[in-house]
Order: sequence, then C-alpha cells, then structure tokens
Amino acid sequence: MIRYPRIIAHRCGGDLAMENTIAGLVAAKQCGCRAVEFDVMLTADGVPILMHDETLDRTTHCRGYVAEHTFDQIRACDPRVPTLGEAIGESQRLGLWTNIELKPATGHEEETGAVVCRWLARNWNGNGVVSSFSEKSALAGRQHLPHAAFALLCDALPADWRQQFERLGAVAVHLDAQRVDAAVVQTLAGIPWAVWTVNDAATAARLYGLGAAAIFTDRPDHLQ
Ligand code: G3P
Ligand code: MG
Repeated sequence: MIRYPRIIAHRCGGDLAMENTIAGLVAAKQCGCRAVEFDVMLTADGVPILMHDETLDRTTHCRGYVAEHTFDQIRACDPRVPTLGEAIGESQRLGLWTNIELKPATGHEEETGAVVCRWLARNWNGNGVVSSFSEKSALAGRQHLPHAAFALLCDALPADWRQQFERLGAVAVHLDAQRVDAAVVQTLAGIPWAVWTVNDAATAARLYGLGAAAIFTDRPDHLQ
C-alpha cells in the first residue's frame, strides 16, 4: 500500500511563494514539509512546464493561452516558469515526495499524459504519485509509466469511481475536502485518500479523524 506524507504543499509551496515555481519547492522544504504537488501543462512546442491555468495571465507576466506560446516565448517574458525537468530535478535534490498532476489544456489531454509520463519514465525516481482530473490524460500517461503510483483525482466521488479507479490501476483517491463526509469514507472502503485544499488546523484534524492519508495545503508552514 502507498505511504503518503501527512502534509503536501499545494502548487509547490502553497502561499509561501509564487505558485508552481522552484521558489515554492525551496520554501516548502525550508519549512519542514516533505511533499509537494504541482500542475504540468504543455507549451505550443510540447515542452512540459509547471502551470495551473490554461492562460498565462493570472500567474505570469505573459498574456494569452499556454498552448499557443512556445517555451522560449514564455520563459522570455517570465523566467520563473519552470520546466517539468527543472521541477523534478529540484524536488529530487531536496528529497521531496511529489504529486505530479497532469493538467492538459483543452484538446491536448492524451498528448499531455503521453509526453509527461514518457519523460517521467526516463527521469523520475518514482517517489510520489501521478494524477489528473482528465481520465484521457491519466490513461495515456499510464501506458508509459506502468509501474508508477497513480491516484484517481476528482472533485466529488463520481458514480463510476470504482471503474475509473480500476481502469487507471490507481492506488489512492484525491478529493475536494469539501466533498468528503463519513458516507464517502465508507464507500472508499479502506482505499487511501487525500484531500485538497485544507488551510486550517481544525478542518485538517476533522479530515484526519475521518481517515485522510494526507492533506494538500497552501499553508505547509502553519499545518506542520
Ligand atoms: O491535485 C490536487 C489539487 O491541486 C487539485 O486542484 O485546481 O489546485 O490543481 P488544483
Ligand atoms: Mg493541482
């Protein structure tokens, strides 16, 4: 059975640094956190970078769609955007357990899963878990990473969660913290589960009490 760290810093370092950046990984490590999560999307020229939104506007100095800009264009206007390679390299250097979330731009689901997981198969030490809200992306990635741990990622548990879980060969479920109650826990019947995004100690305690293996948080310093 997969062993989860109790606290996973959300989008690299949560609120401690700009999201999905190397600075976030360093900040997470510095506050004693042992695990991080980050989102991976492809640029127009197929480079996996750390990015949450389909557009660059909110988190970078660039404007427009990620999938319409090359890596060089993005990096030229915002040098803080890391490649997957840089993020995995730094995570491994820091000894961080890592949840790699495949975050495909619309229409790029299979390509994103395949490109990212093909790269991971050659370069990642496997210390962590892969997930995606997109089943297409996760299944495409699974083909290239048959031995890695995958988690089923969903907001609320869907009616066909068991079929999705088995199709993916998943070992855990990641859920929206607000959608978890005792009935959901009973449905999961002992399968490890983790929840995002929990930023206060009382909610964390309630979820651990229900059996959460881990929580994703923007406040890894606060919840240690
Ligand atoms: O993977 C857990 C969590 O990161 C999912 O939500 O939108 O922050 O990627 P989001
Ligand atoms: Mg994420």
